[in-house]
Amino acid sequence: MSVKKRIILSSDHADIELRKTIAKHVETLGFEAVDIGPMTSESTHYPIHGKAAAERVVSGDCDLGIIVCGTGQGIMMAANKVPGIRCGVCSDTFSAAMIRQHNDANMLSIGARVVGEGLALAIVEAFLSAEFEGGRHATRVDMIEAEKM
Ligand code: RB5
Repeated sequence: MSVKKRIILSSDHADIELRKTIAKHVETLGFEAVDIGPMTSESTHYPIHGKAAAERVVSGDCDLGIIVCGTGQGIMMAANKVPGIRCGVCSDTFSAAMIRQHNDANMLSIGARVVGEGLALAIVEAFLSAEFEGGRHATRVDMIEAEKM
């Protein structure tokens, strides 16, 4: 029996309902969704939630992460401050697959005020279905990690 990959989810207050819908979709796709909230729409600060989710990926507790804020940008910036995180904001399915295939992204960020629910779920599916291709792309990802740019 294969162990389900664990996907950490978090957001700010911009759209907790979209995050919960994404969590359900993640389960439907055969992954374990680990939703760390927040559970209310009370105004909060996206850096807290981006960092918290990123730390669960870097620690190895979760395999990949999906985070949401209004634009997807602020929470992505916070996640990328955690060493070992490669997080991209995606508003299309092509980019969502490519950040896995070429950049070995371990987190996906979505702007809830940018894309609708249907597209958001398709972006999530594209991200989770894709695999890192390695090879020349691994050399480049290693360069990012070594800060040799
Ligand atoms: C919150 O209003 C909003 O600024 C936040 O969700 C996000 O869009 C920041 O990047």
